[in-house]
Amino acid sequence: MDELAINMAAERALVEEHLDRYLKFPAGCPERLQEALRYSVLAPGKRLRPLLVLMAARACGGKTADAFPAACAVELIHTYSLIHDDLPAMDDDDLRRGRPTCHRQFDEATAILAGDALIPLAFEIICRDSSSPEIAARCCHQLAIAAGATQLVGGQVDDLAAQFHAMDLEKLEQIHLRKTAAMIAVSLSLGAITASATEVQRETLEKFGKNLGLAFQITDDLLDLQGEEVKMGKRVRKDRDLGKLTYPAVLGSQDSSRLANLLVDDSIKLLEGFGDGAEPLISLARFVVSRSR
Ligand code: IPE
Ligand code: IPE
Ligand code: MG
Ligand code: MG
Ligand code: MG
Repeated sequence: MDELAINMAAERALVEEHLDRYLKFPAGCPERLQEALRYSVLAPGKRLRPLLVLMAARACGGKTADAFPAACAVELIHTYSLIHDDLPAMDDDDLRRGRPTCHRQFDEATAILAGDALIPLAFEIICRDSSSPEIAARCCHQLAIAAGATQLVGGQVDDLAAQFHAMDLEKLEQIHLRKTAAMIAVSLSLGAITASATEVQRETLEKFGKNLGLAFQITDDLLDLQGEEVKMGKRVRKDRDLGKLTYPAVLGSQDSSRLANLLVDDSIKLLEGFGDGAEPLISLARFVVSRSR
């Protein structure tokens, strides 16, 4: 492992330590709910989004310690979106992060409610633990937009509505940008905010995140076709049966892969002004298209 990979593993472990602490609830939280929350969040995810928060903060000269609340908040919102995405009413999946999905392990009502509980928890953590009220307010505002009706949730609605519909590349791009890229872009944005970066820096990182997020979902579509279930920790070769609008379905695998790589190359160019501090971000960006999980 190179130095960077070791640092990332160390930071991933720190994120998980924070998440573990954030998922111990005072009396009043039903035991089964707490169990479902810990089961889903502490399952072995890649933690891409919290790592992006930390690395964006570092690229802007901030302390990663100040970025942990936002980093964890993003991971909590992401995990809620996975729990709900797997429900029978949506993608109806039975395997996630190498384990039975939340509704399979517990029950549908518990899975819905566990997802529900993660949303306010994310905002509670930012409000309570950010380094200033101003930073907290800005993070909450950005995160609320990214997770909201026009972005993550709207993208998920349109993803479901597009099943078994005619192929339309423009529509597909809009779905992927909203259901997936918005949360990746906001991770970068939150990192910049916690580091009190300039607005130009924040906007540049956000743009980087938008490209990277699109490349991430194109790669996810490709991995559904080409990936291995044991590595992915989720079922593969499902998108076609569900009639999902995906990049490989519209463009073919080769052109999809080319596009994902192009998007990452372009996004890396945006980081030029950040100097050596952006090296970890560049490595993570390359991982997004080269990953097998
Ligand atoms: C899965 O996200 C959902 C998509 C947006 C494709 P990840 O691939 O980041 O899932 P985890 O967090 O590693 O489980
Ligand atoms: C999900 O996209 C994006 C989310 C907002 C959760 P997918 O439905 O393709 O994600 P996977 O493949 O189930 O992880
Ligand atoms: Mg889905
Ligand atoms: Mg899914
Ligand atoms: Mg998928």
